[in-house]
Amino acid sequence: MDVQHTYIRNFSSHTADTVTVKGWVSNIRFSKTNIFIDFRDGSGFCQVVMSQDVLGEERFEEAKKLTRESSLAVSGTLIADERQLGGYEIQANSFCVYHIAVDFPIKANETEHGVRFLEDNRHIWLRSRRQWAIMRVRNQVIMGIHAYFQDNGFVQMDSPLFTGNAAEGSTTLFETDFFGEPAYLAQTGQLYGEAMAMAQGLIYTFGPTFRAEKSNTPRHLAEFWMIEPEMAFFDNDMNMSVIEGMVRSVVSRVLEKCETELKMLDRDTSKLQFAAEPFPRIKYVDAVKILRGELEINGKNAIALQEEDLAHAKALIEQHTAEIAEREATIKGGVKKGIRKFNEQKIAALQAEIKELEEQVRNIPNWIESAKNFVDGEDFGGSDETVLTRVFDAPVMVHDWPAKIKAFYMKEVDGNPDYVKGVDLLAPEGFGEVVGGSERETDIDVLVKKIEEHKLPQDVFEWYLDLRRFGSVPHSGFGLGLERLVRWICNLNHMRETIPFARRYGRLNP
Ligand code: 4AD
Ligand code: MG
Repeated sequence: MDVQHTYIRNFSSHTADTVTVKGWVSNIRFSKTNIFIDFRDGSGFCQVVMSQDVLGEERFEEAKKLTRESSLAVSGTLIADERQLGGYEIQANSFCVYHIAVDFPIKANETEHGVRFLEDNRHIWLRSRRQWAIMRVRNQVIMGIHAYFQDNGFVQMDSPLFTGNAAEGSTTLFETDFFGEPAYLAQTGQLYGEAMAMAQGLIYTFGPTFRAEKSNTPRHLAEFWMIEPEMAFFDNDMNMSVIEGMVRSVVSRVLEKCETELKMLDRDTSKLQFAAEPFPRIKYVDAVKILRGELEINGKNAIALQEEDLAHAKALIEQHTAEIAEREATIKGGVKKGIRKFNEQKIAALQAEIKELEEQVRNIPNWIESAKNFVDGEDFGGSDETVLTRVFDAPVMVHDWPAKIKAFYMKEVDGNPDYVKGVDLLAPEGFGEVVGGSERETDIDVLVKKIEEHKLPQDVFEWYLDLRRFGSVPHSGFGLGLERLVRWICNLNHMRETIPFARRYGRLNP
């Protein structure tokens, strides 16, 4: 790629003393004879210093007109400086303004805004450091997924987005008008993936999927990206090995390639280095026992752990409250501006932490109640997944689920038709289900019966049944929710930040 200017990400291999960069003012501070710019060019961040001495009075006056998010080209001396943002500083010799931005609405400290305001301004919120970092992680997650499958002989396929049938429950369908016929936006590409797997052996889809879920939760989008591999001649154990291989490979790629981004997000990366190897695989019936506190894992009891977490949160709140009082007293006693500022920042951070801890203190007793009283045969709720995964040091695979809560295409467990060979991968730290998959039913009579039981129209599934009529083979696959994985890796409160423009219940714009 031949460009005349330099990208910040290439500074470390830049050999000349001077550079030209093109980008935007992320933040700006003025002193009498210097201007300090947090400069971003899309590829990274660095500090630009504009000095009256160097620029001369006239140009310095021009530079004073710069505002946050104004765009400009800067040429100057490149100085490596560890203390600076991105490790470099540019001492500007000259600059050329593209555009002066007037009153950029998002404050430098975005946490001062409510999240609704930020979402309304998503088109410009994307420029913030945090959002920049998340999108970069998303990019590496995507590349990591492709790399894993391509390296293992899978063929990428595109499945249709207009479909004639439901596959994941008829209550979450978006209906559209397809030349006068009702059509649905795809909830999954799986069924088409199964057809392609019978042609190519190993395939994966990577595309948008749609669910009309009227749930305004941190982990439900109406439009999300799903990756759905399908493997001929794989049983559910082999399926689980692929899930684990893919997750490990993607996570380690991100740890390697996104060190800066994860640091910007304050991600505790030790949480992504999983102690348990391989990922634990437990049956649904055992997961229920663990959840209710009836079965311990390595001496850890799920209910007792929650009680400990609750006590710990309460103790921390007390500790933080005491520290805040102490710091407030220090400020009151009269101190220098710098020390006051430092203490004020500490207090704000402690208050934010207390807020989170208070939420835990409110939630955990409910979680415990719900876990203790969990009814065997039901699906796990979000809090159940949190309580269950807390006893493990790695993501957990729960397999062999009750048939009645899973999709029609899952293969019955041999000799026990009340259960099916489904698997969910549950991420730790409360992130819950990231992957859902199964071995597929191959018995055409069982499938026909299931289609009936699920009240699905058999005629639109005739083509799917053909896959069992002509050279049917055991096969398995799964669906990975891209945004769920990005949310977990980045440790985000909500999935709204994991996708450029979220589409979810109550949010269609911008
Ligand atoms: O568990 P699900 O519904 O499984 C399927 O769709 C299968 N057809 C997959 C397969 O076997 N080929 O969805 C798979 C994953 C979930 O584990 C979750 O990560 C994600 O898709 N997902 C969602 N992500 C965001 N918003 C939603 N509303 C989601 N629903 C599912
Ligand atoms: Mg699922």
